[in-house]
Amino acid sequence: MTNLIGQYPATRMRRNRKTNWSRAMVQENTLSCADLIWPLFIIDGDNKTETISAMPGILRYSVDLLVKQVKIAYELGIPAIALFPNTPNELRTQNGEEAYNPNNLVCKAVRAIKQAVPNIGIICDVALDPYTSHGHDGLMNGNEILNDASVNVLVKQALTQAKAGCDIIAPSDMMDGRIGLIRQALDQAGYEQVQIMAYSAKYASAYYGPFREAVGANNQLKGDKKTYQMDYANSDEALREVALDIQEGADMVMVKPGLPYLDIITRVKAEFKTPTFAYQVSGEYAMMQGAIQNGWLDEDKIIIESLMAFKRAGANGILTYFALKAAKLLHSSDQPHQP
Ligand code: PBG
Repeated sequence: MTNLIGQYPATRMRRNRKTNWSRAMVQENTLSCADLIWPLFIIDGDNKTETISAMPGILRYSVDLLVKQVKIAYELGIPAIALFPNTPNELRTQNGEEAYNPNNLVCKAVRAIKQAVPNIGIICDVALDPYTSHGHDGLMNGNEILNDASVNVLVKQALTQAKAGCDIIAPSDMMDGRIGLIRQALDQAGYEQVQIMAYSAKYASAYYGPFREAVGANNQLKGDKKTYQMDYANSDEALREVALDIQEGADMVMVKPGLPYLDIITRVKAEFKTPTFAYQVSGEYAMMQGAIQNGWLDEDKIIIESLMAFKRAGANGILTYFALKAAKLLHSSDQPHQP
């Protein structure tokens, strides 16, 4: 590249790297607690937690204990949390009606959090997979995942969540046209201030495996999600998905999974200049946590390095199961990302 001028020995790249203060001066990207969004799993009951075997260190919480975790997150400066229910099996049905029950786990959690921690942002996932007996994000007819009929139900789900007090509706279902119809329904119901974070470029990925255990949809799922989630061989297609969602009214977009898809984040950000979020998903957490627990990777360092990579790629923030741990590290005096 001709615009990168310099020649050894007049130019020595190591000069700027010599001291802590100099590395701090030339650092191009930063990571702060405001970049972190913490996904949390909810279960029914009181004073209850459950472990998730494929996500060591992550728990499902009953609403009362969930609220305490959210409070800790808020006090550490985490701006928002994302909620995912593990619906009791008897409430999972062919058509996922529990998704728009105003007393479902997510709505109960939203109300409890709003009361106890009113100044944290609440993100609710819109998709039917935690509620359907077949584990798909939409309605099924035979083996087909219906689009427009699913969107009607997703609109109901989004309205129910907004009514409960959700701040950001996050459709993760990948049905066509859902952002526009959800936006329209929210506006008509007087929720024009409720934001939408669209899971725009969401790939059909094996990295979601542990999440499906977490929400109890792994034994449920019939087939795969390839007719609605994207083919991981594609990248131009992600730009079309994002363009449509922005046109339909998305306030922010998301790329998912995270680290293996940094190229997509960079392309989306460069093309659209829209707030762009990355989801460091359950399988990424499982890989890193597995290595950490075996002593193969340094926990503090690998967490911060992986999160900084998202910032370097252009993400405005990261949904990560490491959010609480990362926030604590960022507050500690010897931060592992100290330049
Ligand atoms: C639901 C949903 C999924 C994830 C977020 N929302 C799973 C899926 O699409 O199968 C995955 C999150 C993760 O793996 O951490 N549609």
